[in-house]
Amino acid sequence: VDLTTDLGHGVLLPNPVLTASGCAANGKELHRLEDIAKIGAFVTKSVKRDPQSGRGTPRMAETPSGMLNSIGLQGPGIHAFVEHDLPWLRSVGARAIVSIAGESSAEFAEVARALVAAPDFDATVAAIEVNISCPNVANRGLVYACDPASSAEVLRLVVPEVPRSTPLFAKLTPDVTDITVIAEAALSAGAQGLTMINTLLGIRIDTERMRPHLFGLTGGLSGPAIRPVAVRAIWQVYAAMRAGRIPTAPIIGVGGVRTGEDALELTLAGASAVQVGTAIFNDPLAPWRVARELGDLLHARGIPRYADVVGVAHDH
Ligand code: DOR
Repeated sequence: VDLTTDLGHGVLLPNPVLTASGCAANGKELHRLEDIAKIGAFVTKSVKRDPQSGRGTPRMAETPSGMLNSIGLQGPGIHAFVEHDLPWLRSVGARAIVSIAGESSAEFAEVARALVAAPDFDATVAAIEVNISCPNVANRGLVYACDPASSAEVLRLVVPEVPRSTPLFAKLTPDVTDITVIAEAALSAGAQGLTMINTLLGIRIDTERMRPHLFGLTGGLSGPAIRPVAVRAIWQVYAAMRAGRIPTAPIIGVGGVRTGEDALELTLAGASAVQVGTAIFNDPLAPWRVARELGDLLHARGIPRYADVVGVAHDH
């Protein structure tokens, strides 16, 4: 089976299974177990301008159907990322999608500028994911992807910083009334693709201590529970593209994918690539396994090319 997928602007990936941002840091631990150059692309943890210690603890809660996190964009900052992580990703031959974040639209642009100026940029960075939907940042974060004008403003400032050969994917939140409105704002402002979805905002209460479990109160829900939400978001945006209501662009699907069949489900809804996130915590080899299972599944159904099934559920 030909698993090649096209993310636009000349970005061809050998297979459509990627890691999800934040679920495997910047790749070093995962690479000890299996070659990350064999993943369709490795998506890095969102990086801001300055080093971040993140939110207070506890900042993780497990639920039977998924995980609630309140990390708060912990990370080394773009300068350390460019100095250490990017050269390492290059040295192992990984295709990287770098996730960027900021507390202002100007910070997003600053991070993009520093990334593009890195000596390893051209050889390593296949695309940039613009994380406008982090639910765990005090003042802004989610606010961007909940508001079309703010989403557009971030993209408008980032686009001029990045060469056209490196597509920008805006990462959207499902926590909005109509995700097609945000999709349209991001695409019209110059995003060349969309990643859907970020985590769904939730709260857990510790019934022993009778108080909220997470230090930051709210967290983002991930895992199997949100897969139908991801499928719904991808479906709605892909349908709007097909109907000509919003610009057409590739979609990267993410949300509760654990198996090849799950990856196929997001693909049938309209995703041209699929990220594996929370599943990595139980099974670090999940991204490689999901790619294998997806290939086997298509083969068993007599489908020669992955690209042939993108969005086909809409035809029926
Ligand atoms: O669930 C999430 N947690 N989504 C993000 O975009 C960021 C992350 C965090 O660091 O809190």
